[in-house]
Amino acid sequence: MTQQNREKADLDFLAGKRMRRTRQAAWSRAMVQETDLTVRDLIWPLFILDGENSRESIATMPGVERLSIDLAVEAAKEARDLGIPSLALFPCTQNDRRTEDGRESYNPDNLMCRALRAIKAEVPDIGLIADVALDPYTSHGHDGLMDGEVILNDESVAVLIKQALNQAKAGADIIAPSDMMDGRIGALREALDNEGYENVILLSYAAKFASAFYGPFRDAVGSGARLKGDKKTYQLEPFNRAEALREVEQDLLEAADWVMVKPGMAYLDIVREVKDQFDVPVFAYQVSGEYAQIEFAAAAGALDRQAAMMESLIAFKRAGCSGILTYFAMDVARLLQK
Ligand code: PBG
Repeated sequence: MTQQNREKADLDFLAGKRMRRTRQAAWSRAMVQETDLTVRDLIWPLFILDGENSRESIATMPGVERLSIDLAVEAAKEARDLGIPSLALFPCTQNDRRTEDGRESYNPDNLMCRALRAIKAEVPDIGLIADVALDPYTSHGHDGLMDGEVILNDESVAVLIKQALNQAKAGADIIAPSDMMDGRIGALREALDNEGYENVILLSYAAKFASAFYGPFRDAVGSGARLKGDKKTYQLEPFNRAEALREVEQDLLEAADWVMVKPGMAYLDIVREVKDQFDVPVFAYQVSGEYAQIEFAAAAGALDRQAAMMESLIAFKRAGCSGILTYFAMDVARLLQK
């Protein structure tokens, strides 16, 4: 502190300023609370499994399960009854349907499309977000097509379009490309509009970083053990901020309706900058590894689970998020209801 600042602080104190006056009681803190966490902020990611009446736990994500479609429908009803506005679906594709070219991604009867149809039919008033990328369908676990070691861009986009059109046809309200190929937002918008899906919302995973925090998700969709190498030729380097903002700008120019930053907690600086620079709806994904961190730390007695869960989500709101994809969604919704 400079001498001058110290004098100013002393003067303020003498003038009667006290920051703690505001914080003296729950009621006074409530009066000046700057942000809020409500059930409207929650997006619940759901892992879908083939079969009937079956559920599987995921060792690296305690408390999260893969659900067969019939159970996912019941879960969607529960989420709707709690006031959660939307769900994000992720298929755990049967192993014998994973191929080099990921063709199961655009099978109109794949797990994803069947789940979309079933949930839309029974729970029409909940928004359905369909993830667009090839990793749950490829034998190599990458989000695009490969030629040797190279992830092909334009060839991948052509497949993503076929995938997304089937998802829209099956009832997806929001198409969320998480693949990070160049040009996919514009190409998807054009294809959707041409097929009469001009009301389908494009939520772009615009600033998606190559992150170690996706580990448990890759277990959940069964792509982790297959993945060769990393995703650094398409996902962003954690070092880079300006590049992330250019990605967002590019996707907005290509008519993304909403943008997403991913992962969440370690990238809230990016959320704030996107919000300040573009003032569009910004979402963030509290990814599987972030969830696992809190769950395992709580299980070890190192953290108060509920307090850590709530604090983590409040931080997303403070950073400027319109909503948060979080595996805690149901727990938080139940807690907020009390
Ligand atoms: C892949 C995809 C990933 C996630 C959502 N979509 C993982 C990846 O890029 O490898 C991660 C979500 C999470 O970790 O919870 N298209």
